[in-house]
Amino acid sequence: MKTLTLRRPDDWHLHLRDGAVLEGVIGDSSRHFARAIIMPNLVPPVVTTADARAYRDRILAALPAGDRFEPLMTLYLTEHTDPRDVEEGRKSGLITAVKLYPAGATTNSHGGVRDLDKAMPVLERMAKIGLPLCVHGEVTTPEVDIFDREAVFIETVLDLLRRRLPELKITMEHVTTADGIDYIKSSKSNLAGSITTHHLIINRNAILVGGIRPHYYCLPVAKRENHRLALRAAATSGDSRFFLGTDSAPHVDPLKECACGCAGIYTSVNTMSCLAHVFEQENALDKLEAFTSLSGPAWYGLKPNEEMITLEKRDQPVDFPSKRDTEAGAITVFDPGFPLYWEAL
Ligand code: DOR
Ligand code: ZN
Repeated sequence: MKTLTLRRPDDWHLHLRDGAVLEGVIGDSSRHFARAIIMPNLVPPVVTTADARAYRDRILAALPAGDRFEPLMTLYLTEHTDPRDVEEGRKSGLITAVKLYPAGATTNSHGGVRDLDKAMPVLERMAKIGLPLCVHGEVTTPEVDIFDREAVFIETVLDLLRRRLPELKITMEHVTTADGIDYIKSSKSNLAGSITTHHLIINRNAILVGGIRPHYYCLPVAKRENHRLALRAAATSGDSRFFLGTDSAPHVDPLKECACGCAGIYTSVNTMSCLAHVFEQENALDKLEAFTSLSGPAWYGLKPNEEMITLEKRDQPVDFPSKRDTEAGAITVFDPGFPLYWEAL
């Protein structure tokens, strides 16, 4: 039997929601991951340090008994965010990053930023105190095709912001295009990118060929095959500017399987198995630890986890649940479309 031992992984982009969904899903992350950057797009969003502290308490209260898991909290950037509150949140050790959602880009982003100029005082303060900005890198202009939103964002928003504030540390989250990969590679400093599990596995055909498959719909939407291949090459390269952010985003099935379904793919259950499969296919199992456990902490200025995790390759496919049942309803688990033989213990 093949086994693989890694430092315990972290998830640098995770949606845990709240209430019954939080209670139903948190164990799937705390089973394998030591820490995660928690997205603030609740209803209402997590906009102040006090909101983040209360949300962190609710997350810790929902943890299964005996699990150790550290939620790394983020603030949802608005045009009214107070730089003093952000600085206090950082100084108290509670806040790990601030999240920029361009208004309208995705789930619960309507309170996000329309005019970046209005957020400049906060961004300047963040640059000064070394607090990273996590970016949902898509424009929302109706004229821009949804498959081009990331590339246009890089050109018209991100690059300008980086020229204006080169000292600001920016994480381009869930990169989905070769354009994003190239842009990050071409930068000398203060830019890194997270990559999801599912974007390494599906391209846009998975959503649309042979019928519409809502459980493969997420934002940024999966792109053409050449983009998926660029993501795989970056993730498995060992380049420390790329690391795992699953963007595991649970929605109960009725909210996905309807005329206007929500964006989000629930991957927390089988992410480590999917990644071992992908890295093995790319002959890069030796780079898996960098992607899941080393490059992320280095970027966020944290130590890698001391604890280890073991992955074993089975002769028979591992049986994952196809749904996670919660008090709020069932959530479909990501189906990679092939059997998984690696099991994370
Ligand atoms: O697919 C997504 N789902 N992308 C996002 O940016 C948000 C997330 C969610 O919160 O459901
Ligand atoms: Zn997300």
